[in-house]
Amino acid sequence: MKPASRAVHSGRELEARTPLAPDISPAAVHVYTDLDDYDAVARGERPGHFYGRNSNANRDMLERAVADLEGAEAGVATASGMAALHAAILALAPRPATIVASRELYGGTLALLRQDFEPAGYEVNFLDLLDLDGLRRAVDGAGLVLAETITNPLCRVPDLEALASMARSRGVPLIVDNTFASPILCRPIGLGAAVVMHSATKYIGGHSDLVAGVIVGSASVMTAARTRSVRTGTTLGPFDAWLALRGLRTLDVRMRRHSDNGLALARAMRTMPGVTRVHHPLLEDSPSFPVARRLLLWGAGGMMSFDLEGGRAAVQRMMTRFRLVSFAASLGGVETTISYPEITSHRSLSAEERSVLGVGPGTVRVSVGIEDADDIIADFSQALAG
Ligand SMILES: Cc1ncc(COP(=O)(O)O)c(C=O)c1O
Repeated sequence: MKPASRAVHSGRELEARTPLAPDISPAAVHVYTDLDDYDAVARGERPGHFYGRNSNANRDMLERAVADLEGAEAGVATASGMAALHAAILALAPRPATIVASRELYGGTLALLRQDFEPAGYEVNFLDLLDLDGLRRAVDGAGLVLAETITNPLCRVPDLEALASMARSRGVPLIVDNTFASPILCRPIGLGAAVVMHSATKYIGGHSDLVAGVIVGSASVMTAARTRSVRTGTTLGPFDAWLALRGLRTLDVRMRRHSDNGLALARAMRTMPGVTRVHHPLLEDSPSFPVARRLLLWGAGGMMSFDLEGGRAAVQRMMTRFRLVSFAASLGGVETTISYPEITSHRSLSAEERSVLGVGPGTVRVSVGIEDADDIIADFSQALAG
């Protein structure tokens, strides 16, 4: 089946009298009448659920659906994207090791590496993933490589194929945060990644109404991640799992509209007053254009950013004039939102660190929604007009 069909059907097998939409199973615990049966289920030798932290029918469906879409053997769904990433890192590098990571990581990931992994003895080598020579040197002797399909907020696309083959040939596993692209636009397992991670809070859920994370990879790595997530109690609850699966069903159609609208807004924005630079990987003058054309299947999703003359005051002025667009520090929902990296995703960085990355006081990130493109463009035009 093609990805659009998998998005609609994966994770469930329908039989006669099965409800077409899944029931929600909120039970914290299941009843048993036979000790041997319980023992077999608890050991994982027989299918079934016994305690909600260990497994749950709705979580199970979501895990199977995302694994299927990403082309992976298995998945683990967690209470947030950060919990998913934490479980994945510990599954692949359980002891202190050198982590080679993109210097443009999502701020929460940066904080996790700096404030939890570094004090625990891990060494993190932050690099520009577009510099393949630098990477080649750094990957030798590393325990793990961590990258994002599309970077935040400048929407650059590292060559994951080259990165994965470089890591693979040295026996170093690669984790890819595929949140911005979704499995509809890029499937990094096929490019050689060991684990793919999603903040399902974003495009997978798609409606800004849940917080969840999913990782997928080989059965053995997922077992290692699952046992950690179960021990630390970061597994996903049934209601959010149900909502995330419901969101996933429309992922393909949403990604098509997000991608069309994102590119249309990026193109229109280039001539709007006060805009000095537009960042979108499929603009011909983007440094990522050739790689994005090769690695992103038919679009770049709804993420883009731009630099506005006049810094914070100009951003505030635009915000107060919006009629349709909202300020909200998340992304991937059906509605168009902006965030301001200086005080949202990149607030844990110093002004100097942000400036090295190219994130300035006028940088605005846009999560372009699925409204009519004309309305989105018109709202930015009127908000930026003199
Ligand atoms: C690229 C990326 N990765 C991970 C996360 C963390 O996800 P969550 O908020 O679901 O923990 C986010 C959240 O903004 C994100 O944008």
